[in-house]
Amino acid sequence: MSNVKVDVAQGFSLSIATIAPDKSISHRSVMFSMLANGTSEIKNFLRAEDTLNSLKIVKNLGAKVYDDGETIKISSDGIKEPFEILDCGNSGTGMRLFCGLLSSAKGHFVLTGDKYLRSRPMKRVTMPLRDIGAIFDGRDDANLAPLSIRGSSLKAFNYQSKIASAQVKSCMILAALRADGVCTYTEPELSRDHTERMLKGMGADIKVDGLKTTITPMKQLLSPLNIRIPADPSSAFFFAVATAITPDAKIVLEGVTLNETRIEAFKALERMGAIIRYELTDDKYEPIGNIHVEYAPLRAITIEDNISWLIDELPALSIAFACADGVSVVKNAEELRVKESDRISTVVDGLNACGITTTEYQDGYTVTGGILKSAIVDSDGDHRIAMSFIIAGLRCGMQVTDLDCINTSFPNFFELLQKITKVELNK
Ligand code: S3P
Repeated sequence: MSNVKVDVAQGFSLSIATIAPDKSISHRSVMFSMLANGTSEIKNFLRAEDTLNSLKIVKNLGAKVYDDGETIKISSDGIKEPFEILDCGNSGTGMRLFCGLLSSAKGHFVLTGDKYLRSRPMKRVTMPLRDIGAIFDGRDDANLAPLSIRGSSLKAFNYQSKIASAQVKSCMILAALRADGVCTYTEPELSRDHTERMLKGMGADIKVDGLKTTITPMKQLLSPLNIRIPADPSSAFFFAVATAITPDAKIVLEGVTLNETRIEAFKALERMGAIIRYELTDDKYEPIGNIHVEYAPLRAITIEDNISWLIDELPALSIAFACADGVSVVKNAEELRVKESDRISTVVDGLNACGITTTEYQDGYTVTGGILKSAIVDSDGDHRIAMSFIIAGLRCGMQVTDLDCINTSFPNFFELLQKITKVELNK
């Protein structure tokens, strides 16, 4: 099993232009290309396991893909019944969005994933889809993958979701585009809105009014996408935390999406005392720009609102909590338990191993800032846990095991980390 040893970091001043491209937008770019009436052009696509799996699935569904290593061109004349089982690997986004896309397509489709994904709940999409006429089967009454889908016609719906989840929302929006009438989807808190922005940019009739999205089914195919994927704020955030916990450090994270549903963790780090500045440089589908971060002593905070806006960054933010003065509190975050790992347990167990005092609750945890101690932490197959504890090592030295998962979202993570500290990687 792979492992890494990292050394304590000294102050640094860096600008990084090669943070991994955004995972959410990359998945969507290849899937949505299948709804267009021409060739979509995608630049800076995330070439990581999760998103390459989505690209492969799109090919298996009959799309024509030309990839010169820089631009991916995708055209499709409709979703075709695949010869292969469609493997989403580790990706919940891949599986849940494909459920929406395929539920109305002609044919039979089987979606599967790795052992982690096959344990994650899919009822949150298969139940509302079944309610509008979709035909799903799978273990635990279509809650667990492998899932089988028999495409069928879908009824219009007004769905009130209990979970603030962009995956569920996007799945239902994709289903609505092929339903037999105007649909509405309401969520309890606004979740990331890339699907709405991108599909609107392609000409879909989608109206957002606060928490309610109204979708008019497509009368014709959409215009092709022409997109350059910005850097992923969730990946950039590891380097923001690295900077915020290292005295005399500063960094510029270039070309990141500044979509407000994605930079809440940076706002939280700012509330803790880190010096952060946002510089808008572009605005196509999404606001895009540079994030400047500078070290300053950190203080504890409470996180209880807009959880879906920083759900992916909470493990890394917890490393900042461990280095802050006081007791930080995370509440209303039970969703963490059904991510790539049970992230409440993996964060708390990892911090405890590093000598930090924590309390665990069903929907959150507390972290008492203290002195991080070097430890051996296992990622539990979760990329964000692996990278978070590697970043903790910049304060105290650390060994982290089970690292292959990092390839699901941030393949050049170690290359960038080496600009900050000594990294001893054993494959
Ligand atoms: C994602 C939505 C979020 C996030 C995931 C990516 C997306 O999941 O955690 O990493 O691209 O739609 P939920 O919808 O389960 O909150």
